[in-house]
Amino acid sequence: MLQKIRQVLFIIALIASFMVGMLTYLTAFPLHRIHSPVTWQASEVDNENKAETEHEKEKTKVSNKTIVYDVDLLHKYDVDLLHKELLNIHNKLYKKQPNDQCNLREPACVVLGVAKSGTQELVDFASLHPNIVLKPGLANPKMFDKSNEIRMKAMLADRKYPVPCSHADQVVVFKSDDFLFKSEMPKILYEYNPNLKMILITREPVSRLISGYTYHYLQVKQRRERTLYRPELLPELDHHFVNFSSLQVIDNHESRLSMYYTGMENYLKVFPLNQILVLESNEFQENPVKVLQRVEKFLDIKSVITNEIFTFVEEKGFYCLNSDRIYCYGSDRGRKSMKDLKPETMEILKEHFKPHNMKFYEQIGKKFDW
Ligand SMILES: *[C@@H]1O[C@H](CO)[C@@H](O)[C@H](O)[C@H]1NC(C)=O
Ligand SMILES: *[C@@H]1O[C@H](CO)[C@@H](O)[C@H](O)[C@H]1NC(C)=O
Repeated sequence: MLQKIRQVLFIIALIASFMVGMLTYLTAFPLHRIHSPVTWQASEVDNENKAETEHEKEKTKVSNKTIVYDVDLLHKYDVDLLHKELLNIHNKLYKKQPNDQCNLREPACVVLGVAKSGTQELVDFASLHPNIVLKPGLANPKMFDKSNEIRMKAMLADRKYPVPCSHADQVVVFKSDDFLFKSEMPKILYEYNPNLKMILITREPVSRLISGYTYHYLQVKQRRERTLYRPELLPELDHHFVNFSSLQVIDNHESRLSMYYTGMENYLKVFPLNQILVLESNEFQENPVKVLQRVEKFLDIKSVITNEIFTFVEEKGFYCLNSDRIYCYGSDRGRKSMKDLKPETMEILKEHFKPHNMKFYEQIGKKFDW
């Protein structure tokens, strides 16, 4: 009798602890309930207006979701997990043609830069497309990035560079941060492939400059002092940008990287403008779907990028991948990682870049909101 009671009590205890466990799990990971898995499928949405209204709807729809966003999940914002999931989706979407072999094929598209404008985010997000190949390990091969141009030229001439294996209906894309400003690069690329497609993503020049400088400054400071700095803890950086006795912008490597027309000039001497797709960072951050659809059209690949693929995450100020759950970049990416400058510094910088921007708009036949 006593043994029977003990058995019953034991079973009750077992059930109770299981229920407590389930409850804890569900409270800790509410996203599992909130985000049902997305069904991936090709879409025929070409019309930009249609895409825009749908995007608006999506934005309102997700804004309630983000309120319940769990801070405990922050530790799961991990760029490696994001990359894994992008590859996962890419593989799920790719339908291999019968008898098609995965071969080493030449890159047909190169991202020219520019640094701190979202080149990495652009190629990362684009890589979920089944017809775009950008293997994580090969996305940024050394000779394509901080290359010395002569070595690069020899390597392209000999076709001696690592390429990922790809199928006949896929486009191999390479990414660089600084091709735009390498003066010999346009000729080298033209000799390599006169039909090469190029993508350039630019950003409002002043914020690009501040972001570039803050990024390098923080890196050096953190390495030297072995402390984690947040931008708002940095000392005033204004004098790194403006000489306050002459009220001139200081001319250095970083400030020259914000004058896109100088780089573009070299490319347009060699390539027609229609081989270069010029994108803008702000637009990409605010509407990645629209920008990625433009990339699909430019590369002449099928349209698979739809609004459900990304969701805006308020606390990151960023769109994140919306799959079985939300995948975001880690804490080092996002708009909050920038140092604020004084209004007068901003004014001097804005005025400085204005004429350069005008020349750039003229070159590309398109205006941005800078
Ligand atoms: C959130 O949802 C509630 C009701 O479900 C709705 O009244 C409200 O307008 C929504 N808010 C946003 C920002 O969508
Ligand atoms: C700042 O401007 C003054 C006056 O034109 C000049 O003498 C000085 O060398 C400049 N300093 C820097 C760091 O460029």
